[in-house]
Amino acid sequence: MTPRFAVIGNPIAHSKSPVIHAAFAAQLGLTIQYDRVLAPPGAFAATAEGLRAEGVVGANVTLPFKLDAFRYADTLSVAARQAEAANTLCFGKDGVAGHNTDGIGLLRDIQDNHAYPLRGKRVLVVGAGGAARGAIGPLLEAGPSYLAISNRTPEKAADIARHFASVGKVEALAAAALAGNAFDVVINATSASLGDPLPPVTADVFGKDALAYDMVYGKGVTPFLELARQSGARISDGLGMLIEQAAEGFWLWHGVRPQTAPVLAAMRTGLPDA
Ligand code: ATR
Repeated sequence: MTPRFAVIGNPIAHSKSPVIHAAFAAQLGLTIQYDRVLAPPGAFAATAEGLRAEGVVGANVTLPFKLDAFRYADTLSVAARQAEAANTLCFGKDGVAGHNTDGIGLLRDIQDNHAYPLRGKRVLVVGAGGAARGAIGPLLEAGPSYLAISNRTPEKAADIARHFASVGKVEALAAAALAGNAFDVVINATSASLGDPLPPVTADVFGKDALAYDMVYGKGVTPFLELARQSGARISDGLGMLIEQAAEGFWLWHGVRPQTAPVLAAMRTGLPDA
């Protein structure tokens, strides 16, 4: 029987996950079925249970259901527990395991694909929603010399710093504290780039040879990336993170690691077989 997988979200039509997983499966000679599933608001668990009853063995979870998936899972990985969000589910005989591969996907893209090691670097995360929360644990593990978080609503950044205090030091910085404060890596984890506005950063934050990373993809050079580029920073959107988080999920489901570089290259050029 062909193993079945799904990505659950709302909206879901735009999701690139089926294309990415199909490309990984083709690379490894595996046959899979991977569907997009629209869950109605408030009906995540019922939708996931329905898929499980139909024999689906794994699911990716996207907005706005990562917290619902975290609550729904019977067991949680360390990353899912730290992030309080799950983006990958494994439906097993003994229950549902919840994982969060977003943070490791971000790390792999920055450290491996961009060849930018984070050890000893000064790192700033802008934003304090689910995307930022998922990134902090893996970022701390990468051993930066200093990790800071800044957000339009400062209390939320302070909450995250407190939440991670037992894992490592994350300093919550007020917007005013960013003036004249330069970083090696600046990660935009706000959803500001989905609209037009710039998140609360100024050109000061981009240090010499800095990398500016916007978790958003498919939006071209966002206002955040444009500011970084004008300040002389290297820039990256979040397409690599998307593909790397998928690869980590693929490994959890299939026990084999796909090559991400060809899929990333194909999706950058928009080839239909990606
Ligand atoms: P996600 O799961 O994508 O992280 P979220 O949990 O809704 O989404 O969090 C969105 C983040 O983007 C928050 O940090 C939010 O800032 P607030 O906490 O102040 O709301 C940030 N954000 C969204 N739009 C923004 C904008 N126009 N300017 C600055 N920050 C913005």
